[in-house]
Amino acid sequence: MSNNPTKTKAWAELSQHKKEIENQRINDYFRDDSNRFNALSFSISGLLYDVSKTHLTPKTISLLGNLAREQNLEDKRHKLFNKNILNKTENRSVLHTNLRDESQNLDQLENISNAIRAGKYVGATGKPIKNIVHIGLGGSSLGPELLHQACQKNKIDSLNFYFVTNVDGSELSYIFETCDPETTLFIIVSKSFTTQDTFANAHTARSWLEKHYQDKNFINDHFIDDTAKPEKALEFGISSDNTLIFDEGVGGRFSLWSAVGLTTCIAFGIDKFKDLLRGAHAMDVHFANEEFDKNIPVLMGLIDIWHRNFWNYEAKAILPYAQELKALPAYLQQLEMESNGKSTDLDGNAISYQTSPVIFGDVGTTAQHSFFQLLHQGINIIPCEFIGIKKPTHNLNDHHDKLQNNLLAQSQALLQGRDANEPHRKFEGNRPSSTIVLNEVDAYHLGMLIALYEHKVFVQSIIWNINPFDQFGVELGKEMANKMGENDLSQTDPSTQALFSILKDK
Ligand code: F6P
Repeated sequence: MSNNPTKTKAWAELSQHKKEIENQRINDYFRDDSNRFNALSFSISGLLYDVSKTHLTPKTISLLGNLAREQNLEDKRHKLFNKNILNKTENRSVLHTNLRDESQNLDQLENISNAIRAGKYVGATGKPIKNIVHIGLGGSSLGPELLHQACQKNKIDSLNFYFVTNVDGSELSYIFETCDPETTLFIIVSKSFTTQDTFANAHTARSWLEKHYQDKNFINDHFIDDTAKPEKALEFGISSDNTLIFDEGVGGRFSLWSAVGLTTCIAFGIDKFKDLLRGAHAMDVHFANEEFDKNIPVLMGLIDIWHRNFWNYEAKAILPYAQELKALPAYLQQLEMESNGKSTDLDGNAISYQTSPVIFGDVGTTAQHSFFQLLHQGINIIPCEFIGIKKPTHNLNDHHDKLQNNLLAQSQALLQGRDANEPHRKFEGNRPSSTIVLNEVDAYHLGMLIALYEHKVFVQSIIWNINPFDQFGVELGKEMANKMGENDLSQTDPSTQALFSILKDK
């Protein structure tokens, strides 16, 4: 049996339906149906998702639901929550949702983070740790960085936090200039403990401390690691007491709920981390149980499919109107594009339909003054996802009002456009946008929001019949970089060889 979505009955019906409604202006739907907002906005406690400003009708939702059923989403959703081997290409169960159902043992995270927060965790000369340096990248950093920025206001004052993600030495050299080695703790976060960039940064940090301490044994006073490969951490010199292990079944980009959350626990306390897990669990319960036509992650995934595969929109903009969520677009770029940026299906066939769009974005209002011109008048139509916050984290209410007004004005302008005699000033409008309203930016609601996106990415992968949990596409470049590190250019092309000589000629 083929799992190709384009061969389903629902796909054919959706293609036909698209032809029937493609010339409708979204705005006219509002004129014809005063209940449109109510019919096309969906909520659970703390979060609302409005899709009334897109090209869809209740019929579209019903046909998309049929597509999900034909692609066995119900069965796959059940498997996701029941430790089945969904990551077939790597023969692994998928376990990130289990981390938030209160079965995760948080004792180690709690003990270490409490000790550091209380000033009781000391370096090799007995001085309390003051500087936390999180070394990791991709899934081993984007989630913790997102949470760190989003919850800034609740950060413990007595500690300084640094994130080192890039192999570019500028981040580490700044830390070496700024921090006292005797009060600095490096947290090495790497699921595989083999990522070249992270490894290079960890080694350089160790050499910095070696130089400072000379013959003194310091590693276990200044290094902790979060990994799925404890044996590799041991080879590096970090003892098992200082190693927080998470399961192979927790994918890197789904790992912020695991031991990878240590930096989050240190910065905000274990209780906030538990709030984060609770928020994600609330979304899990909703996703696992709700009917498709009221299920927000299902609807969000299906509407993105509608846009990508039936309207051929190539990109999607993520536009949080909250400075605290500045890191969200980067987080979602990895989550969506590393998961669903694939062209081979689960059965090994080349894919003939579109998969992940390009994801980009930035916070409003800042983004309005950079790329919004293209969103309003560019040749390509790009669906926009606005994220608005009801309650601000500050008491400058006037600013929050202005921020919200801007969000509403932008989605309205995309919808309505503007007629004008002068062609350059004319906006076609009729550009789709969805809006998520989050009650507030706190750990609980962040947990909900991130889990929402995780599940919507999963839904899309099921429709597209791809494995969202592997990432073979990033491996080739890693292997080639390793070869170049050994000056092995034997397999390279003339352009690369010439550029190699130019770049290395300092
Ligand atoms: O470069 C891709 C990737 O493998 C991501 O999937 C992952 O999140 C990141 O690298 C870091 O990997 P690790 O945690 O194993 O160091």
